[in-house]
This record gives sequence, C-alpha cells and structure tokens, in this order.
Amino acid sequence: MLKDDVLTIISKEDGYISGENISRKLGVTRAAINTAVKTLRQEGYEIESSTNKGYLLKNSPDIISKGSIAALLPTGRTGDINVFDTVGSTNTVLKGLAAEGAPSGTVVVADHQSSGKGRRGRNFVSPSGVGIYLSYLFRPESGFDKISDLTSWTAVAVADAIKNAYGLDTQIKWVNDLLMNRKKICGILTEVSVEGESGFIDTSIIGIGVNVNEKPEDFPSELSDVATSLSIENDGKTFFRSKLAAEIIRSMDRLKDGWPDNSDYYLGRYRELNITTGSKVTAYKLMSENGNGRTGTAIAINDDYSLKVKFDDGSIEDLKSGEVSVRGLYGYT
Ligand code: BTN
Repeated sequence: MLKDDVLTIISKEDGYISGENISRKLGVTRAAINTAVKTLRQEGYEIESSTNKGYLLKNSPDIISKGSIAALLPTGRTGDINVFDTVGSTNTVLKGLAAEGAPSGTVVVADHQSSGKGRRGRNFVSPSGVGIYLSYLFRPESGFDKISDLTSWTAVAVADAIKNAYGLDTQIKWVNDLLMNRKKICGILTEVSVEGESGFIDTSIIGIGVNVNEKPEDFPSELSDVATSLSIENDGKTFFRSKLAAEIIRSMDRLKDGWPDNSDYYLGRYRELNITTGSKVTAYKLMSENGNGRTGTAIAINDDYSLKVKFDDGSIEDLKSGEVSVRGLYGYT
C-alpha cells in the first residue's frame, strides 16, 4: 500500500524529506502523497510538515505495519513480507503461500490471530495490539532428522533478536520455549511437510509468537502462573513491536543463510541460554501424558539437541523432543 511505502521512506530519513522527493521515489503524484500522510496521521503517526522542507516523522504509534517493519530492514528485503491486521493463524496463511510456490524467507506477520495455534493442538492466545505473531518459510533441503536442530536454532535466533531489539536477555527452556524470569514469553511452532521419497523437509513453516506488551489481564487465568510478557517483566514499559519483528526477520535470515554450516554458533549459544540443564525435571511420554512422569535431573544438551537426563532410579537417557515433554521449570510445556 502506498501509505506503507511513504511511511518507510519518511522513517528512513534522518531529517525532513520533501513531498516532491517522495513522489519521485514512488512514481506517484504529490496529491497521493498528501493523502497517504493524512491517513498515517489519522492512525496516530506524528508527521510534521513544513512548507519549504517537507515532512518529518516525529513519533510512531506501536502499530505493526509493513511500512514500519520495512523501515527497519534493508531496502530490497521487504517484497516477501506480508503483514495483516488479523488472520486465523499466520502459519496457515503462510502454508497457503508456500503451496503457491513462495520462496524461502517469505514472512507473514499479524497484529492479531483469531485461532493462533500452539503445540500439540493447543490454542495460542494472540490478542491484538500487544504481541508479535510471525511465521517464516524455510525450505532447508535437509532430512527430517534435522528438525530438532531447526527448532532449536530458531529459539536461539529469537533470543538474539530480542537482545538486538531491546537489549534484553531471555533463557531457553528445552526444547524451544523462551523464558524471562522463568515464565514463558515466546512459543515456537514449526510445521513441516516432508517429501515421501527422499525424506527431506520440503517446507518448514516456523511460527513464532512473542508476548511483548501484554498486561497480566491479557492472559487467561490458567496461564497467569506460566506466561508473561516483555512489558510485565520490565516494569510495564511499552516496546515498539515493529523493531522486534524486523530483528526476528533479520535473525531468521541469518539462520537460513547459515544453515546447516553454522551449527557451532547455534549449539554453543543454545547451551549458554538453556536453563533446563541442572534442573529437576519430569519427563512424560507424549502419547501418554496423563500417566506418571519419570523424575530426574537434566544434565546436558547433546549435540543433536536431545536432553540427557539422569533419572532418580540412576538410569541415564537421551530424550528427544518429539517423544517426551519435560516439566519442571513451570507448570506446563
Ligand atoms: C507453543 O508454545 O505452543 C507454540 C506457539 C506458537 C505460536 C505462533 S504465533 C505465530 C504462529 N502462528 C500460529 O498459529 N502459531 C505460531
């Protein structure tokens, strides 16, 4: 949309930029630029205009839009970024684009999801105006055995993005939840399709949900002990979400470009950030979760991102993420 392009241009400019300059860059009339500026002002953007100098962006509201994300990315990266006010699930929308042949690196971001998907059929609460719901398409050309690496790399990528965007440290709970003060601030749901003949991952849709500006009352009561937001953990501060969305896209692009050679970095960083090792854990077989779990102590992250656990009966086992869930740091996985 034209207003997104106008927003990107005036955001990237350090000082004033003339309407004539913008209209030349975009190949549209001055009148069209005026209309776009008017719309942006109505949305809450503070845009100063001066007869001789042009437009100056003084303040941006916390709106997730293509224009505000593109302003924080290199020109040329923005074509495959699709931003919506509301969708059912960004993963589902991106799956549709992938089926139409969208390239690796295509992104879908939404301000709200009406049926956000969590792991194992759960719902992911996705209120509008406060979180980031982002899906990233990656065609990794790797065997399905690499799926744990991919989801674990993503946890590192998002932790790095949060650090780069806001300077905040997060921790990883095995296998790929991000925590702050031992409560969950980000969930990742990777949905893959595998080519039957080769066993290679054809498409992976990596869905990332980050709780950014939620207040305690934005979470349903059953999540109040386990979920939190960056804002809650930082004295109610409001964070500019487009900044984090742009950093997640940069971080995921680095992941894609570094796959699979960059494994030393991701494994090292994963081990550094993970707080599951050293903790008491209870492991549940995924298919029989209501049965009794086995308790033990997590002792290491193996090179394939499986979790080495010393159980209370003295046995030591390597747990794979697709087979068990681990509880211990907080009430649910
Ligand atoms: C979990 O922790 O259970 C995973 C949550 C994943 C949520 C994200 S939000 C963006 C993407 N779209 C979805 O419907 N789900 C993922």
